[in-house]
Amino acid sequence: MLDQRRLPDEEVELECRSAAEVAEAIRTLAVRGAPAIGIAAAYGYALAVARGEDLEAAAATLAAARPTAVNLAWALREVQAADDPAGRARELHRQEVERCRKMSVHAAALLDPGTRALTHCNTGGLATGGYGTALGALRAAHEQGRLDHVWVDETRPLLQGARLTAWELHALGIPHAVIVDAAAGALMAAGEVDCVLVGADRIAANGDTANKVGTYSLAVLAAHHGLPFYVVAPTSTIDRETLSGEAIVIEERAPEEVTARSPARNPAFDVTPAELVTAIVTEAGVHRAPYSESLPRTMEVVR
Ligand code: MRU
Repeated sequence: MLDQRRLPDEEVELECRSAAEVAEAIRTLAVRGAPAIGIAAAYGYALAVARGEDLEAAAATLAAARPTAVNLAWALREVQAADDPAGRARELHRQEVERCRKMSVHAAALLDPGTRALTHCNTGGLATGGYGTALGALRAAHEQGRLDHVWVDETRPLLQGARLTAWELHALGIPHAVIVDAAAGALMAAGEVDCVLVGADRIAANGDTANKVGTYSLAVLAAHHGLPFYVVAPTSTIDRETLSGEAIVIEERAPEEVTARSPARNPAFDVTPAELVTAIVTEAGVHRAPYSESLPRTMEVVR
């Protein structure tokens, strides 16, 4: 896999030779983004099968690598139930990219020509195994001539926006500028933002959405300024077992990622209440509130 910790300075591949090495790559963010974590875990499990590892231990190690993205547990269940785990892992990878392309078409249609969008973290091909969710939608909108500009939150503390999203947008030739996370409100107030598009790590049955820390603040700001706030994510990110955002486990990462100089706290995700989400866009289409009714219908379409 491409080692995302080294981007954008170096494009270096990381070779994982056991499920434990894949779990370590997930834990340390060499691979990150909810769908990509699921795909990596699926390949990790297939690797464990091929090497004759203890499969229960391998699955447990992979499942424990990161807690918030539901795609990890979902993808593991899929490969564990398969007769051919390697084949199922490849299929999952292909299907996630296909889902991205479909949801991107649905989401791009929501944007008016000339849109200046704001996005947070990285939701592109790097985060999904190919194409992207919110960033995929921006890519499709750009191809259709609907997108003027992307404001890229740098995404403190690990800079997935400044390092990864900016790198992907540059490669795609999409006009963009990196901003500090705290600048979003002022840009909205100045009338320089038309909408916000983000991805998700877990969407509860009622539409509450966990995503990279800072997403909730953006949703509050968008509501205050009357701007649409769209969540773009595959159905593999919807967790019907989790009834509301309160039950979502939020990953706490090492305080040193924030600062080593002072005591620090480092929650990696936050939860945006469904009432602040204008629409959730999946491969099945555009879903509106009440999400407890529209999301189950989504799952029926794709199963
Ligand atoms: O900590 P990360 O980089 O894995 O966080 C990723 C995000 O928050 C993404 O927005 C989310 O996983 C969706 S990726 C399509």
